[in-house]
Amino acid sequence: MLAGKRILLIIGGGIAAYKSLDLIRRLAERGASVTPVLTKAGEEFVTPLSVSALAGQKVYRDLFDLTDEAEMGHIQLSRSADLIVVAPGTADLMAKMAQGFANDLASTLLLATDTPVLVAPAMNVRMWDHPATQRNLETLKADGIRFVGPNEGDMACGEFGPGRMAEPLEIVAAVESQFAAGPLAGKRILVTSGPTHEPIDPVRYIANRSSGAQGTAVARALADLGAHVVFVTGPASVPPPDGVEVIAVESAREMADAVQAALPVDAGVFAAAVADWRVAQASDRKLKKSKDGLPVLEFAENPDILAGVSQMKKSRPGLVVGFAAETNDVEAHAIAKRKRKGCDWIVANDVSPGTGIMGGSENAVILISEDGAEAWPRMGKDAVARQLADRIAAALNG
Ligand code: CTP
Repeated sequence: MLAGKRILLIIGGGIAAYKSLDLIRRLAERGASVTPVLTKAGEEFVTPLSVSALAGQKVYRDLFDLTDEAEMGHIQLSRSADLIVVAPGTADLMAKMAQGFANDLASTLLLATDTPVLVAPAMNVRMWDHPATQRNLETLKADGIRFVGPNEGDMACGEFGPGRMAEPLEIVAAVESQFAAGPLAGKRILVTSGPTHEPIDPVRYIANRSSGAQGTAVARALADLGAHVVFVTGPASVPPPDGVEVIAVESAREMADAVQAALPVDAGVFAAAVADWRVAQASDRKLKKSKDGLPVLEFAENPDILAGVSQMKKSRPGLVVGFAAETNDVEAHAIAKRKRKGCDWIVANDVSPGTGIMGGSENAVILISEDGAEAWPRMGKDAVARQLADRIAAALNG
């Protein structure tokens, strides 16, 4: 799928640079040619020799290397690529990009280019959360720079949180979507999916019966049409599809944060079965049986992610699609829900136990839009997903 594509890979100075070696391999095995650029800091983490051996090409390191300037100036180097990938995208590189610095080869290439740029950030969680980095992120997004990750998880520095570089295959998926053909090529679409788990204590949680099957099918169908899909999923029982950027979360509040971080997007599809309530004071120790009686759980309301995004002023996606899980008066409830939440479409389904829809492989949906209600015949969840993806493509391109 990447045959003949020329990718300029800028490797910044972070521990995640070791994953960029694998990234080169993955890109190369898909037919891309990778021209590597290693920053000074990057050289502290991976050697120029291993980078150039994997890429099968010379590695560019220094702005003032006159031989290179004679062979190929930095302007040409930056423009001869079809895509520039920055991985790891350090806080420092992001700051330079946001400010337009050009004081080394990597930053000069990034400033001199008119080629699309994809950044895979990687840094310590505090550095990622710092207002300066978040400001730079907003600036870069507004400049049209695309991002993949960072993911949340254990980090090499011993902390936990967002900041871990996306996995090589996730970066490959983002690269592929850049070149994908199809009606959704170049579009970035967010899909939420699966249930959420709301902790009671470290070993117990409140959940629901969503398998994540419909959301997963929608994400796959959108990716098949060429979209870059950011797939924010709760603990689903079906595996995430290939070719999408996966952000795994547990609770509704984590899902809300991940959705926020994924914006801006061209469209958002909110298929997750988000818990409406969480336990207000989840215990950090396992609750024990006690003679004093049964535990009493107090609930607090979770943020309504769909309503929050639908009602955004600046970053509202062009198309917002919600789902409605109902057990009675499906159409009436769904029409009211579309108004209440402020989304464009609602895909309503009857999840009463007799239908076998929740956790099953089929779905019977009613698509509610401004134009009214349209009942689709009962069909497989994959077929519902394909039909919905076609509609989304038509709406975004119309
Ligand atoms: N949703 C959300 N955040 C929440 C609750 C729901 O984003 N905290 C989204 C779901 O992903 C879905 C839509 O809102 O797209 C409707 O979800 P549903 O559970 O049917 O509706 P509720 O808002 O929970 O309303 P009710 O419980 O009254 O049916």
